[in-house]
Amino acid sequence: MIQTWKARHVLTGLLTWVPILNAWRQRHASTGGSDSARYCYSVWLRHLTMLDQCGFKIDGAQVGELGPGDSLGIGLAALLSGAARYVGLDIVPYSAKADLEKMLDELLQMYSQEERIPDGTEFPSVRPQIASYGFPGHLIDRASVLAKAEEVRSHLRGGLNSSSFLGYRVPWTSLPHIAEASLDLIFSQAVLEHVDSLEETYRAMFAWLRPGGYASHVIDFKAHGRSPFWNGHWAYSDWQWKLVRGKREFLLNREPMSTHLAHAKKVGFKVVLSKREEATIGLDISALSSRFRQMSGVDAQTSEVLMILQKPKSKPTFG
Ligand SMILES: C[S@@+](CC[C@H](N)C(=O)[O-])C[C@H]1O[C@@H](n2cnc3c(N)ncnc32)[C@H](O)[C@@H]1O
Repeated sequence: MIQTWKARHVLTGLLTWVPILNAWRQRHASTGGSDSARYCYSVWLRHLTMLDQCGFKIDGAQVGELGPGDSLGIGLAALLSGAARYVGLDIVPYSAKADLEKMLDELLQMYSQEERIPDGTEFPSVRPQIASYGFPGHLIDRASVLAKAEEVRSHLRGGLNSSSFLGYRVPWTSLPHIAEASLDLIFSQAVLEHVDSLEETYRAMFAWLRPGGYASHVIDFKAHGRSPFWNGHWAYSDWQWKLVRGKREFLLNREPMSTHLAHAKKVGFKVVLSKREEATIGLDISALSSRFRQMSGVDAQTSEVLMILQKPKSKPTFG
């Protein structure tokens, strides 16, 4: 017998096969988060703060983002802090509806007023948590923020498709969307837990980075509302999970942290930092489906991670 809490999500998944309901879902879908300038500012400055501790410098950097979601605001925040170029890659064009000029104005105001990074009081579930939420003025070229904003504005008005300074590739499906060895940073926030072709995506990210380039990813291993338990998504069998997903463009790949680390290492990344958090109360491991009962204790308790990876400066020699 399937538990009631699972049956509810299976039913919702089945409803996505009804064309009229699915069309309604697609019209109203949003990712929640990057439609807010304060969220984008907070997410970007947290990545930047942690990346700085690992040796990354934003000034003049070529930056890519996987899964920007409702807007390109996190990318605009990266440009205002000194990046030379930004490209966002998604599989659903959520940001197409966004008012990016308004987002830019709100971000500019926050940078100009050197606002503190919005912390856990305002965004309790945003990760990573950092040691200090003061404005990281030492990481940002304050003198050029205003000029950068005007440059961004002119590119927004010119259209994102014709710009190599500010780009949006959607749907991206394969490696050639970005030139090899062209990026200094690729980052994502709450995206890699959704990606279906995980190994290929790590391989693509590795190829896009120049030697010495960084990847910074926050991954959320929780159930994303598909269970009353944080780890309840691991309690569905594979066929039940297929039904829960239905026709959705993406849901959760349900891979634990060790799979991400294994892919990252396999494609050639060096793991510079992995900052994990544990959840305490959840389903007992015996209540998970057989595949997930085999997980290590560390995987089974990891609810979030920030992974900072680096492409080695010189090619490793094998054999
Ligand atoms: C939970 S949302 C996060 C959005 C945004 N990063 C934020 O912090 O609000 C997940 C995003 O990942 C995107 N996504 C899912 N699979 C993807 C893939 N294979 N490549 C790029 N983006 C993907 C979705 O379309 C969506 O925009």
